[in-house]
Amino acid sequence: MKEDLKSIEAQIADLSIEQAMAFLAQQFPNAVKFSSAFGQEDQVITDVIFKNKLEVEVFTLDTGRLFPETYELIEKTRSRYNQNIKTYYPSPQSLEPMVHEKGLFSFYESVENRKQCCYIRKVEPLKRALKDTKVWITGLRASQSENRQNFGLLEWDDANQVIKYNPLLNWSFDQMIDYLKVHNVPYNTLHDKGFISIGCQPCTRAIVDGEDPRAGRWWWEASQKECGLHAVK
Ligand code: ADX
Ligand code: SF4
Repeated sequence: MKEDLKSIEAQIADLSIEQAMAFLAQQFPNAVKFSSAFGQEDQVITDVIFKNKLEVEVFTLDTGRLFPETYELIEKTRSRYNQNIKTYYPSPQSLEPMVHEKGLFSFYESVENRKQCCYIRKVEPLKRALKDTKVWITGLRASQSENRQNFGLLEWDDANQVIKYNPLLNWSFDQMIDYLKVHNVPYNTLHDKGFISIGCQPCTRAIVDGEDPRAGRWWWEASQKECGLHAVK
């Protein structure tokens, strides 16, 4: 698997994202999955997968703390494409003791508590979602943050032992917005209210002009602003 990376990279280098995902789905039957957080990037990829009926499972991690607008978009997307989107939830065995001991807003108290909440609500469910998966597709873009500029189009994800494919890695923000407009893709209405990167409701705020696109995520922290789904490089 890990050793196949270079050869796969060479084979998809000149393909469109639709062709590349179709190629991966053919190489790894029933083992290619796309994780969607219903961000603008994710909606581009979802549109490509569903419109072209690619053999790629689309799933989401419902942390239980998403914005109402995000839940509305999930339903809008399901009905727009008439496709199911698999949802993974946090394990009650981990979630219940955390909330019982630390309350509902423990993440504001320390980076350690915040990472624990992200682990329970996102990272562990992701591990479950990626069990028996060979290729994990994400909506990461390099220009989202300094850390993400170090990511590759195709990488080995050691944490989940899968090939990770980031098809929009080199897309610009404007390119993505153009795609959404041209194809009339549904998007989160929070984007019209100053939100760019949208995660859980208590941990996301709108940003103002000139701020970093991810400044609204865990805004009270001066951390790398990653939740553990993606490596800090
Ligand atoms: S995060 O790590 O800070 O939360 P971000 O919101 O930028 O990530 O999303 C980057 C990519 O990570 C998304 O395109 C998606 O592939 C994946 N991702 C993040 N959050 C989720 C989620 N709740 N469910 C599924 N995929 C997610
Ligand atoms: Fe918990 Fe906030 Fe992480 Fe969501 S973003 S999982 S609420 S710490």
